[in-house]
Amino acid sequence: MGKTNLHDVSASAPLSRQMRESSQQQHEQAESSPFVAQLMRGTLSLDDYTTYLVQLAWLYDALERQVAHGDALPGSAPLWDSRLNRVDAISADLAHLGIADWKHTTAPSSSMAAYIAHLDGLAGRADVRLVAHHYTRYLGDLSGGQAIAALVARHYGATPDQLSFYRFDNIDDIVRYKEAYRGHLDGLDLTPGERETLITEVQLAFTMNQRVFDELAVVQSAR
Ligand code: HEM
Repeated sequence: MGKTNLHDVSASAPLSRQMRESSQQQHEQAESSPFVAQLMRGTLSLDDYTTYLVQLAWLYDALERQVAHGDALPGSAPLWDSRLNRVDAISADLAHLGIADWKHTTAPSSSMAAYIAHLDGLAGRADVRLVAHHYTRYLGDLSGGQAIAALVARHYGATPDQLSFYRFDNIDDIVRYKEAYRGHLDGLDLTPGERETLITEVQLAFTMNQRVFDELAVVQSAR
């Protein structure tokens, strides 16, 4: 029997753990990327935050279109929980930040357009790759998202009605919810090939988010 340790990301590890560990390095990279680090440090502005939120509106619009579509992958039904949906909250936040009707008054950046095109190419809830995108965004929002909201309020004076994106009003206990979510991931009945596809797609999802941050940093530094 081979030795196992914390860094064992072999296919025998629970899927949720394999997903987390295979993206750990990219997560650290995202946290320390210039746009995110500056946003958290307080050296940007509420306008910069708004520019970022506009891009997230486009992302969730595409993601939630896929989540609403198709037969579910066996065992995945509990993941597709409408309480996670963020488009309405983001739209309301944007309206309070001075951007009404974002769909007609803004456009996705080029890296976001590529991300959207990729999401649009998925086959809805039957596609194992959608699980990867769902996990990367929603588990992130349920985790670090909470710290981001506190810092955006503190540094830039964002008000609660500009920060509803980070509130999951119908979920009582976020920590338990995340545990249950990981349990649903571990309960998916996947072939080794599907599992590999899913892990690769988590890494791609992180990469696509990273490209959006990198592009935002360029726009911001060009001012
Ligand atoms: C300043 C930025 C960020 C901070 C402070 C942050 C912080 C955190 C923290 C503290 C956790 C662990 C929560 C727990 O163990 O329950 C976490 C988990 C997570 N974050 Fe982030 N994060 C940030 C950015 C991101 C980004 C950009 C993404 C992806 C787009 C992301 C995706 C995730 C995911 C998927 C998890 C769940 C990991 C797992 O347990 O499987 N995070 N984040």
